[in-house]
Amino acid sequence: MSPSPESTHGKLVLVSAGIGDADNITLKGLKAIQNADLILAMPFVERQLQKYLPRGVPILDAGHGLFSSLGRRGDNQLKTQYQEDQIRHRIREAIDKGLSVVVVEFGDPTLFGPQSGYLTEFRDLKPTVIPGISSFNAANALLGQSLLHDTQQRLLMTTVHGLADYKGTLPDILVLFTMQLEIPQLSQRLLSLYPSDTSVVLIFHAGFSANQQRIHLQLDALVNTSKQLDIPWECMIYVGAIHDV
Ligand SMILES: C[S@@+](CC[C@H](N)C(=O)[O-])C[C@H]1O[C@@H](n2cnc3c(N)ncnc32)[C@H](O)[C@@H]1O
Repeated sequence: MSPSPESTHGKLVLVSAGIGDADNITLKGLKAIQNADLILAMPFVERQLQKYLPRGVPILDAGHGLFSSLGRRGDNQLKTQYQEDQIRHRIREAIDKGLSVVVVEFGDPTLFGPQSGYLTEFRDLKPTVIPGISSFNAANALLGQSLLHDTQQRLLMTTVHGLADYKGTLPDILVLFTMQLEIPQLSQRLLSLYPSDTSVVLIFHAGFSANQQRIHLQLDALVNTSKQLDIPWECMIYVGAIHDV
């Protein structure tokens, strides 16, 4: 391990690995990872980036939702606390030695990013963020059409739960992240807001070029069609002014 040349205080960087294929990372993100002295990543992100990781650099499990309310939701609070203590110690020790610490995130760290707690916990270290492709960007690409074109158009991004008490003007495009997705409840809620022939598009595995998938249907077919599908957690749902391409 060698101190970062630019500073004697070390630095903490939250780097997006992008989403899907390993080469969806930006050059800037890749450079930060390859120059890191200590890397923290969730195991599936580590596997995804395997071929780009520098040799001999320690890699710790970054956990899921540590230093945030998300990490407090699990039933094993003691384990979470222990993991946070260990990580706190390792990061501060490395920074004191002038080293470069990289926390790798998937997607955009600012959109429901499970590692965003690192930004608040280590605020005093002035962490920086290297942005990257979100599942939103990768799903947009798979849709292959302009989503916002006229300046009056609106796009609303939320989750199924964010729709529960929604009373505003309906957007031209509604984009849903699908944590804790229950299709019957979602369908019922959407049918209370939209006409039954509204377009709904399910995007699976966005950014994974080998198996990404786009399923276009009408809102009133959502429940029945979904019964024949094995919906992965990597799913975005688009509702509204979207045409089948
Ligand atoms: C905790 S959020 C993380 C989002 C991430 N920060 C981003 O910018 O993509 C997880 C949700 O993102 C969506 N997601 C993540 N990866 C995806 C993928 N490859 N394809 C489609 N949706 C994905 C799903 O809706 C999933 O429930």
